[in-house]
Amino acid sequence: MKILLINGVNLDMLGVREPDIYGAKTLEKINSDLLQEAKKLNVDIEFVQSNIEGEIVDYIHSGRLYDGIILNAGAYTHYSIAIRDAISSISTPCVEVHLSNVHKREEFRHTSVISAVCVGVIAGFGEKSYSLALHALADKK
Ligand code: DQA
Repeated sequence: MKILLINGVNLDMLGVREPDIYGAKTLEKINSDLLQEAKKLNVDIEFVQSNIEGEIVDYIHSGRLYDGIILNAGAYTHYSIAIRDAISSISTPCVEVHLSNVHKREEFRHTSVISAVCVGVIAGFGEKSYSLALHALADKK
């Protein structure tokens, strides 16, 4: 099983950015911990990150070649119809992930334009949100 983990806008700043909300770990460390976990599950996982909406769209299209996508689109979650259309243009299951519980935060974060085209949503468990998504996809095979 092959999974693509896509992190979107501003997630390259993890560890530096609002650690009280997003935690103190860098994206590099989160990814390397997840790689170890994926190995235990016998799952191949690849990691990409971009701050550019169109690049994220291209990564989602490349998700056609994978068995599952884990996507934290960052702020694009709340308004990018382009990212939503990219997810619905492929048949690979995509899990929407957020480190923070977006529903406990500002009202503009309560809207997701991508949830309806994702197989599921995981939010609020910090870096563990990624691991929960990995397990959810691994169990689906
Ligand atoms: C986020 C939540 C978004 O509202 C925010 O814009 C992010 C990170 C999260 O992981 O909690 O950049 O997706």
